[in-house]
Amino acid sequence: MDREALKKMSAEAALEQIKDGMILGMGSGSTVMHVIKLVGQRIKNEDMAIMAVPTSYDTAQLCISSNIPLTTLDEHPSLDLAIDGADEVDPNLNLVKGGGAALTREKIVGSAARLFMILVDESKLVKKLGEKSHLPFEVLPFAITPVIHRLQDFGKPQLRMSAKKLGPIVTDNGNFIVDLHHLEITNYSEMEKQLNNIPGVIENGLFVNMVDLVYVGSEKGVKILTKI
Ligand code: A5P
Repeated sequence: MDREALKKMSAEAALEQIKDGMILGMGSGSTVMHVIKLVGQRIKNEDMAIMAVPTSYDTAQLCISSNIPLTTLDEHPSLDLAIDGADEVDPNLNLVKGGGAALTREKIVGSAARLFMILVDESKLVKKLGEKSHLPFEVLPFAITPVIHRLQDFGKPQLRMSAKKLGPIVTDNGNFIVDLHHLEITNYSEMEKQLNNIPGVIENGLFVNMVDLVYVGSEKGVKILTKI
């Protein structure tokens, strides 16, 4: 089975967590795209009253075309369930996120939810964060050079460049993304705070002690990991 089929499998299984009347936080990325389409179908078939706070422009657009009504954290500061993907998941359900540059809104939305659920294919499981992925940061453009200098103490920072536009990619919040390679992550929560303490860093992609449930699409079916 290819990775896309495994992602879809975890999205299908995750539907069991979505109940009529829920206010959802909707994450970003290719796995969540499967969920949005499936939720749209359920709203249509079962006449469910569901609303979603989107974490990116892409997610908002797909919610609109899938007939999922949008709402905001101003109207619903507390969400029933947030659903998102991840770049890495460790055995304690800590994450690296930000491959799609939506990490800041994803962290805000995830932290506003009573239940935070992650959907991945099995290739995202790691023993230790940083094993496969670099760590993304959202950075204020005004501070980009001093932030890159400071991040050199931790690894090899690289400004993320756009594929189809000259210059760096710009996030939905108008900021830049720096990917930190070769980072040795030891104490996750200390490091998350220490990195966010650099002036100009808006947010980093370490999600520590936030997640309640992970649905993992694997060749053997969907495994559900819960916080120990
Ligand atoms: C978006 O910024 C990311 O955090 C995504 O959630 C993450 O990259 C997972 O994306 P896929 O579901 O496309 O693998």
